Amino acid sequence: MTTEPNGSTRAYAITGGVPLRGDIRISGAKNAATKEIVAALLSDEPVTLHNVPDIGDVHVTLEMLKGLGAAVTFSDGTVTVDASGVSTPEVAEALSRKNRIPILLMGPLIHRFGEARIPALGGCTIGARPVDFHLAALKAMGAVITCDEQTYTASAKRLKGAVITLTYPSVGATENAMLAAVKAEGTTLIQNAAMEPEILDLAKLLQAMGAIINLDVNRTWVIEGVPILHGAVHRIIPDRIEAASFMVAAAITGGDVFVRDARQDDLLSFLNALRRVGVPFRIEEDGIRVSKSERIFPIALETDVHPGFMTDWQQPFVMLLTQAEGVSIVHETVFEDRFGYTEALTRMQANIQLHRECLGSKACRFVNRDYRHSAVIVGPTLLKAADIRIPDLRAGFSYLIAALIADGTSRLTNVELIERGYEDIIGKLKKLGAQIEVEG
Ligand code: EPZ
Repeated sequence: MTTEPNGSTRAYAITGGVPLRGDIRISGAKNAATKEIVAALLSDEPVTLHNVPDIGDVHVTLEMLKGLGAAVTFSDGTVTVDASGVSTPEVAEALSRKNRIPILLMGPLIHRFGEARIPALGGCTIGARPVDFHLAALKAMGAVITCDEQTYTASAKRLKGAVITLTYPSVGATENAMLAAVKAEGTTLIQNAAMEPEILDLAKLLQAMGAIINLDVNRTWVIEGVPILHGAVHRIIPDRIEAASFMVAAAITGGDVFVRDARQDDLLSFLNALRRVGVPFRIEEDGIRVSKSERIFPIALETDVHPGFMTDWQQPFVMLLTQAEGVSIVHETVFEDRFGYTEALTRMQANIQLHRECLGSKACRFVNRDYRHSAVIVGPTLLKAADIRIPDLRAGFSYLIAALIADGTSRLTNVELIERGYEDIIGKLKKLGAQIEVEG
């Protein structure tokens, strides 16, 4: 029995070989929910969010707000945050290093208190994950920021609108600048910004709260600051990463699954890739059905910011490509260190080689750097069951998929990482017929 540093001995024992069949409903998007909970700090009136997934990252974020003095309820997928009682600009140290959310509290706390103290960040280990763009954006708006190993301290009498040009369309930095700009004095432009569907969803909530916010041409958010934001009710979009992951699981096991609430709008580039490898799918009114393909074809693909093929689809898709007939290439251009998880797949007999070269045509920040950010995958290979420790959230789902097709029973440990981001993952997989036992 393996004991994790957090004391957990829980594990999933998965026996491969069962085609997934049936119907599952995708939960609300983790990467929208956590940011929208933070947005509630911008108002003294209650903000109600529906379709909130019951996952570790949501609970950590709610604890963070409670620690500040907000009143929070969460039941049946609905969160209500009343931030009127928030009484401190300091995020609790105990919640440090759990996820990437605390840095987003900087703007909202400065608006309330003229200062913010934020503990060091956590999140998946998929690269260095600096926050220099976040800090530069807040500084451009007038914040004075200092940091030591434990804490970021930021202060400003009043944040001011600014022209912010991001070096790269970072999701977190765009959200951070947005959460600061909505109540800043004057107009803010966030140029070269991210425009992922989760960010659009955040913008919709902010608009419902009274913000004046628009996505202009050339990746530019234009935000006119307003002095007060109000309460609002908002429904969070379905999770496009969960949707894509289940579609791959259905296809690779040779099954037939209706992925309810999967939205074509948010999955265009994923569905194109699915089409190119030959996986049949049908768009229906309330979801997407994926069924068995006779053959899986190899392809070359590159991850990118939205509307490109997202980096969080890469891990399940690499799994699919291990079953394609021929040589596939995947060039990861968003995070420099997002193929570490393939080592365990190689132990399961997958044929995956990593390269430092950019094996693709997109401009990539990792060219001539020492990062193994391209993968060559040769398929199809029969995978053998293995005992694997999960290194990060998205890798965790790809190991689940690997175990579902492997010969024998695999044992996955450090499963709390999966539960950070996927609601009722075991319940959903079992409903589709997967053979999974939870140990410990
Ligand atoms: C968000 O991370 C998501 N996390 C990630 O999902 C997702 O993979 C990523 O966006 C890309 O879509 C959350 O929403 C909580 P970035 P984020 O800032 O915001 C570099 C998951 O499993 N960068 O867009 O941290 C950075 O190192 C997670 O749900 C800087 O250099 O991603 C990376 O190479 C994993 N300086 C690139 O930009 C900065 O200040 C993109 O990162 C900020 C980012």
